[in-house]
Amino acid sequence: MKKNDSYRFQTRVIHDAQSPDEWRGATLTPIYQTVSHQHPTAENLSDTFAGKKTDNIYMRLTNPTNSVLEEKISALEGGAGAVVMSSGMAAITNACMALLRAGDEFVCGNSLFLSTYILFTNIFKKYDITARLVEPTDVGAIEAAINDKTRFIYLETIGNPKMDVPDISQVAKLAHKHDLPLIVDNTLATPYLCRPLELGADVIIHSTTKYLSGHGNAPGGVVIDGGTFSWPEKRFPDFKPFIDRKGPLAFLDKVWREHHINFGTTQAPLHSFLTQLGLDTLAIRMERHIENTEGVVEFLNSRSEVSWINYPGLKDNPSHDVAKKQFDGNGFGGMMAIGLKDQAACFKFINSLKLIYHLANLGDCKTLVIHPYSSQYISFDDPTRLSLSITPDLVRLSVGIEAIEDICEDLGQALDSL
Ligand SMILES: Cc1ncc(COP(=O)(O)O)c(C=O)c1O
Repeated sequence: MKKNDSYRFQTRVIHDAQSPDEWRGATLTPIYQTVSHQHPTAENLSDTFAGKKTDNIYMRLTNPTNSVLEEKISALEGGAGAVVMSSGMAAITNACMALLRAGDEFVCGNSLFLSTYILFTNIFKKYDITARLVEPTDVGAIEAAINDKTRFIYLETIGNPKMDVPDISQVAKLAHKHDLPLIVDNTLATPYLCRPLELGADVIIHSTTKYLSGHGNAPGGVVIDGGTFSWPEKRFPDFKPFIDRKGPLAFLDKVWREHHINFGTTQAPLHSFLTQLGLDTLAIRMERHIENTEGVVEFLNSRSEVSWINYPGLKDNPSHDVAKKQFDGNGFGGMMAIGLKDQAACFKFINSLKLIYHLANLGDCKTLVIHPYSSQYISFDDPTRLSLSITPDLVRLSVGIEAIEDICEDLGQALDSL
């Protein structure tokens, strides 16, 4: 079926980029489980290497199953093109590395996902690259951190687990005023809730491991190029060959050609297949994730054991107004952080759960909890944990799509144990 832009998101998420006629009538994309592709003539392979043809060569470069997922996610985000990779972290690393040289700087939110934080503050530091961490909801602070060495601004649509929601339109305007691109990690919102390119962002990243695949079975990541940023020579003198070769897709070409294929961050075609299967139900899953999260928030609000709830859907949450505007009234996502008395109470609560899974993931159709302070962030000192809003009393919940009554009953009996 050919893409039709007039279809609604719920239809496009199933049908975009699907071509059964090209696959002998198969209604699911075949898994092209092959490392290499036969070329009919020496001229054909030579032309493909020279970029005159777009045939497949070798899996580390491209793969037909991966290409379908790239086309689909790019269409859903309103992008000009995309490259899928082996994980969300692969996508973040490649997108940033394509922009950074020794001595460069960039500005990013201070409520970053754990591995992104480590990449930005520890690993990049070894290469003389400085990440300037600021409050992502404070546009003034973002502007104050920009200087001649800045190469981009980086935000997460919803901070994890701080749950803060920066104003993407405002930050995009600021970025463009300074000739900088805005990169947004849209993992927690998904294109169902928010399409940052429409708000002015230039590059989108996802960990497809989460809501996009939705079943905790396929690690993956994607970089989507909006194709609208012009890469002015003053800030980006190294972009010329890529602009000459690919025009509006210069950035994606740089990500793919310079980094992805040489770092070998290849996506397994099976994982692309599973992600496509998951995407078929993204819209309906998100609807249910959001509805259930609202139900869980209402239930937890009535429980005295819960000292605070951080969820952008609450009217008194500092991010409520921006989230409402930015997410088009479609809801506020499927994640929240809650406070219990202390770490001991968090452990007792988690150990008492019967239905809800206790593990390090989010965006699964199952409800998940974790105590980040004692798990993912165990090796961090307290000042760093506090700067990332990771406190000993915090439990993170990723609300699934089970029956809301069963989720609340399980939460309730675990709270009863405190
Ligand atoms: C917001 C966000 N971005 C990126 C990642 C990294 O994704 P992956 O685990 O697929 O590398 C995660 C993982 O939890 C995340 O929550």
